Amino acid sequence: MDFKLTEEHIMIRDAAREFTKTELLPGVIERDEKQEFPAAQVNKMGELGFMGMMASSNYGGGGMDTVSYVLAMEEISKIDASASVVMSVNNSLVCWGIETYGTDAQKEKYLSKLTTGEKLGAFCLSEPEAGSDATSQRTTAIDKGDHYLLNGTKNWITNGSSADFYLVIAQTNREQKHKGINAFIIEKDWEGFEIGPKEQKMGIRGSDTHSLNFNDVKVPKENRIGEDGFGFKFAMKTLSGGRIGIAAQALGIAAGAYELALKYSKERKAFGTEICNHQAIAFKLADMHTSIEAARHLVMKAAWDKDQKNDYDLSGAMAKLYASKVAMDVTTEAVQIHGGNGYVKEYHVERLMRDAKITQIYEGTSEIQKIVISRSVLKD
Ligand code: CAA
Repeated sequence: MDFKLTEEHIMIRDAAREFTKTELLPGVIERDEKQEFPAAQVNKMGELGFMGMMASSNYGGGGMDTVSYVLAMEEISKIDASASVVMSVNNSLVCWGIETYGTDAQKEKYLSKLTTGEKLGAFCLSEPEAGSDATSQRTTAIDKGDHYLLNGTKNWITNGSSADFYLVIAQTNREQKHKGINAFIIEKDWEGFEIGPKEQKMGIRGSDTHSLNFNDVKVPKENRIGEDGFGFKFAMKTLSGGRIGIAAQALGIAAGAYELALKYSKERKAFGTEICNHQAIAFKLADMHTSIEAARHLVMKAAWDKDQKNDYDLSGAMAKLYASKVAMDVTTEAVQIHGGNGYVKEYHVERLMRDAKITQIYEGTSEIQKIVISRSVLKD
């Protein structure tokens, strides 16, 4: 068993780390406060190749493996989880979904712009009445011969207003339940497509989350992804990979908070010594370090499974379930170690704690991950 990263992996991780220091850290507190989308930073991420890391170079992507992707996700999430969710949705849901299941024409027209950061993607599955229960879609796409007519509402969509291309999952035949669902590529400026108001969120406040309304949007037949009725499996398969990205995000949030707490504990003095010399703090750091390392192993294993073309539904779900819990636990302890300073914005850990919570909710709640894991365990 070889736990060593390759030189290329280290180079990518270091490039991401450098980018966070020069481009993401300045202004991260203000962007969080103002709920400001990191537009300039996302553009730069496109230039540096972070927006289509795993996509083939034939379509402008980086042709990198999933291990490289999670390394970059971890680094970027340490500093700005709002930027990393933009990156994650674009890479592992939108680019991967189109590259894996799209037609050559769809890849040419959409993927090659998404991989370079010229355009941004969004993934639209959740609805007001269908979050975890993804088969209960109410958005419909009715077959009208040469096009589908799309109607309905999607909720909590990351990159909701900043995206250009949207992967939208809709019911084409209600009687057939999940076999009557399809996925479509929708363009922002199509008639009947409206972006709802921005959500006021607790965390990842720099990323823009919106509801979307579709009122008789005409979708050309060639924008359906895969065979008729493939949409539910498309969503499930795509989300399985997406969960590895979110697990890496959770890991990065935890690692970022831990690094801040470690540094602070070596500087802050109480009762005549640096607080790290008190066992109450040292033991917290030991637990944080151990749980982060365990989460990193799960995240890497899931990424490796994907790269080896092994099944990664289970390892991705376990990585997300565990890393997101670690993110909550570690950020909470990081605030505690900072004491009163932990509760104010300039020390960053309160933001990381707020950001951590979403990793237990989006791309499948922790309870959904437990469904995936328990089904896998019970079938053996
Ligand atoms: N890969 C391929 N196929 C899969 C699959 C997978 N990972 N998971 C399920 N399927 C297939 C099954 O094989 C089955 O197909 P057949 O009938 O041909 O056998 C079909 O899909 C239905 O499967 P289930 O009976 O298991 O479906 P279910 O209704 O019980 O749901 C679930 C399973 C795991 C709970 C699923 O609904 C789920 O993952 N829900 C959560 C959805 C989610 O993550 N939502 C958030 C989305 S996006 C987001 O967060 C927004 C954003 O902007 C980031």
